[in-house]
Amino acid sequence: MGAKAIVGLQWGDEGKGKITDFFAANSDVVVRYQGGNNAGHTVVVEGKKYKFHLLPSGGLHGKKLVIGNGVVVNPSVLLDEIEMLSSYKKVDLMVSERANVIMPYHIALDGIDEERLKNKKIGTTKRGIGPCYADKIARLGIRMAELVDEDAFRERLDTIFLLKENIFKAYGLSFDKEKIFNEYSSYGKKLKQYVGDTSYYLNSVIDEKEILFEGAQGFLLDIEYGTYPYVTSSNPVAGGISTGAGVSLRKVEEIIGVLKAYITRVGAGPMPTEEKGRIGEYLAEKGHEFGTTTGRRRRCGWLDLVAAKYAAMVNGIDGIAITKLDVLDGLDKIRVCIGYEIDGKEYERFPSMVTELEKVKPIYEELPGWEGARKKKRYEDLPLNARKYLDFISDWLNVPIKIVSTGEAREDTIIIQAD
Ligand code: GDP
Ligand code: IMO
Ligand code: MG
Repeated sequence: MGAKAIVGLQWGDEGKGKITDFFAANSDVVVRYQGGNNAGHTVVVEGKKYKFHLLPSGGLHGKKLVIGNGVVVNPSVLLDEIEMLSSYKKVDLMVSERANVIMPYHIALDGIDEERLKNKKIGTTKRGIGPCYADKIARLGIRMAELVDEDAFRERLDTIFLLKENIFKAYGLSFDKEKIFNEYSSYGKKLKQYVGDTSYYLNSVIDEKEILFEGAQGFLLDIEYGTYPYVTSSNPVAGGISTGAGVSLRKVEEIIGVLKAYITRVGAGPMPTEEKGRIGEYLAEKGHEFGTTTGRRRRCGWLDLVAAKYAAMVNGIDGIAITKLDVLDGLDKIRVCIGYEIDGKEYERFPSMVTELEKVKPIYEELPGWEGARKKKRYEDLPLNARKYLDFISDWLNVPIKIVSTGEAREDTIIIQAD
């Protein structure tokens, strides 16, 4: 028995939901460890599309679901999602008592900050994620354990209002504390049955059960390693599992990095291989690249192996899942970025400053295209040039490709066995 992790290696939306659902069939417990309902993970089963924002994507298999302490929880969204899933499956859920709660003022502040930034907007999902994590770090958060205990909740809310009311005023906002108390206490009453110490739970079963950790967002959106400040406020990196779920990373036996066969980004920030013209349109249309959470059109471009190599290194991935290979069907030539040119000099490293990233001219390798990868279910049935493309990626990153996804459905998945 052991634990596996699924992490995104790009700017999110790599297809983590699909890959998590695939592995969840053989897992006992599926765990989210960071992020909140900024995530939108899609699973397609028998032609029906299911979207998970807070619950782990293993839900459709009826597995035990855990929301770890590193997640920020919007209780009303969680209740809606529990209701949605319970119409298909029995919901067996545990939510960390340490997870911080997204409050109405977090959502309001997220929106106002974004408006104020004008042309420097981050392009957040406006779900209150950044302000909630900021309060957590400032020791001004409300945790699930408090939400479900009226006395503790009242005391905490009083303290927070004492410290934050001036900030609300400066933003031209005022909140009715009683109204928030009543609304959120009612969420607390409904959620109480699920709340517990998830770290103790996970550690008590980790040696006998199969545990699957599901990353949200992607490595390039990580608060530490991503394209700061155009990032999210949590740690999607695999290392986030130990702080976000209270489980040692040494217990995670396999880390699978999910890499889309091209690249997308939703929101602002540098994106060296972005294709603003015909190719970008082609990928967006063919890949249905519209946000699962906000419906925004995703920016699209060629696969960036400089960024992927950096992601593979810091995450320490054991294998890659390539998704959406089928979207590249029908192109004559396919480009892959293998280096960056900045001010006339060539680099193989991903720079830490956005000012550098904005100057990058990608260095491309051009590979021949193919037709007919869509919905293939065996490696041998993939077109030769598609297999060459996979080999190129795996050689460049020096990591084996273990899974190839050729369509959105559960069964459009190829497992590549080691030689
Ligand atoms: P996540 O946030 O990483 O879980 O990814 P999203 O669910 O936001 O976006 C991925 C989108 O691509 C979803 O609409 C999936 O149904 C779809 N998808 C996943 N894998 C494949 C694939 O191999 N081929 C195609 N065509 N679509 C895929
Ligand atoms: P999944 O899990 C893609 C992006 C936002 C914005 C930045 C900060 O579906 O891959 P936030 O609301 O988190 O403060 O926004 O991060 N972002 C995502 N982009 N997929 C996601 O999640 C994302 N979650 C946040 O667009 O650029
Ligand atoms: Mg998504």
